[in-house]
Amino acid sequence: MASARSDSKTEAKDTAPLRALICDDDEAVCDNLRELLEGEGFIVEQAATSAETLAKAQASGDERPDVILLDVHMDLNGVDVLKQLRDRGIETPIIMMTAVAPGATAAEAIQNGAVDYLVKPFDDLEAVARLVSRAVAYERLKQAGPEAQFLSLHVDPRERIVGASPQMVEVFKLVGKVARTPTTVLITGETGTGKELISEAIHSSSDRRNGPLIKINCAAMPESLLESMLFGHEKGAFTGALNQHKGLFEVANRGTILLDEIGEMSMSLQAKLLRVLQDHQFERVGGTEPVKVDVRVLAATNRDLKTEVRERRFREDLFYRLDVMEAHMPPLRERKEDIPLLTIHFLEKHRYSPRSPAAHINLAAVDKLTDYDWPGNVRELENVIQRAVVLSQGQVITEEHISFSGAFSRPLIDVEQRVRDGATLEDLVNEVRREAVNAALRINNNNATKAAEALSMPIAELERVAEIKASVEIHG
Ligand SMILES: Nc1ncnc2c1ncn2[C@@H]1O[C@H](COP(=O)(O)OP(=O)(O)OP(=O)(O)O)[C@@H](O)[C@H]1O
Ligand SMILES: [Mg+2]
Repeated sequence: MASARSDSKTEAKDTAPLRALICDDDEAVCDNLRELLEGEGFIVEQAATSAETLAKAQASGDERPDVILLDVHMDLNGVDVLKQLRDRGIETPIIMMTAVAPGATAAEAIQNGAVDYLVKPFDDLEAVARLVSRAVAYERLKQAGPEAQFLSLHVDPRERIVGASPQMVEVFKLVGKVARTPTTVLITGETGTGKELISEAIHSSSDRRNGPLIKINCAAMPESLLESMLFGHEKGAFTGALNQHKGLFEVANRGTILLDEIGEMSMSLQAKLLRVLQDHQFERVGGTEPVKVDVRVLAATNRDLKTEVRERRFREDLFYRLDVMEAHMPPLRERKEDIPLLTIHFLEKHRYSPRSPAAHINLAAVDKLTDYDWPGNVRELENVIQRAVVLSQGQVITEEHISFSGAFSRPLIDVEQRVRDGATLEDLVNEVRREAVNAALRINNNNATKAAEALSMPIAELERVAEIKASVEIHG
């Protein structure tokens, strides 16, 4: 809204026909492509020399091409023309055309930011048309940015919930509906689908947003500890309870509490929780005074609670209390249209270095992401992108940078999470050391001498760090 002018400009460009610039000195190729693309509704411009290409690619306003098809062999090397365009800040998607088998040149073109390449002569014209349209569509998504194109809920300035699939639109609507009510919401979905993110969205769009949002993982600790964490305890309630202690329900007063992995809560704690939901009060462990609280309860689980109820592991009455509203986060494989949006979002979020621009990704790599099934859902996608940014050194991400094995797990070191967990700088540095030693050993086939050399560290030190790693794994 702040930039009405640029909005209307985007709009004008959105409704105007798309423009393609074909850069080739071969008349036959140009005619062929012109006919094809005009048939697809494009306005087609041609350039037969590199000078003409540079001029037309930089045209402004309505003359600006939406996609460029650039031959590798013109008066200048096409890859050099591509580099010049990128150096001048032209971000238009560029598809390279080569007459020979796509070898080193195609790879070089992709590395310099071409979205894809075509091999001449074109035997499958439909495939050419598809590629051109997809290049334009993907660029449009990028241009529009999160505010315009992505339906996104604001959680934290750094964290958005991205999605435009019908399923996610339903989730967003539900959040809008429940946020301003005191209703309990049960958030369900597989691991990594964004349950925690949605709980943050519900809290921050509610009238409790100035109150605390407390999240607790019910699976992370033994029952007795969880009980005193949630409800607090009185002085002398158990050995070591030297003082009265407030529980998280009291801390969360006038705010929201997220009971994460609620499916793991013991039956006896479930009973106590039920009472909080019904009467808004409870007693601290070892106490008799009822404590009154005003807390909105959100619960999340990746288990099917109905099954848990049927198998008598979860109280039916509690289930109905929690399930007043259910926000179901669909698995990523059922909303693949969100994958390109999420990819762009994560490329913005995870820069190679804080000052690097967002990395580019070629269409083949986006295809590889879209073809995959994502058992670890959005978290896995985020990890894969983070790795790809590192592997491509912040340059153009291609298929080779996308690998799925082991990516299901969390990132090697989730710095943000570790800081939340209370890790000190020293802890983090030690973890990085261990990961570096590990990687160096892996890369050098467990040859400690070579690994130590690669990291420029004394071998004794490397062996010591490698041992720490082993003991952490055993006890951790
Ligand atoms: N729609 C989305 N848009 C942007 N980021 C997302 C989206 N969904 C998930 N993420 C990101 O994916 C990661 C996992 O999300 P989150 O922790 O909310 O998942 P979860 O369902 O709680 O997983 P688990 O069951 O394993 O606890 C986070 O880094 C989150 O920011
Ligand atoms: Mg979670």
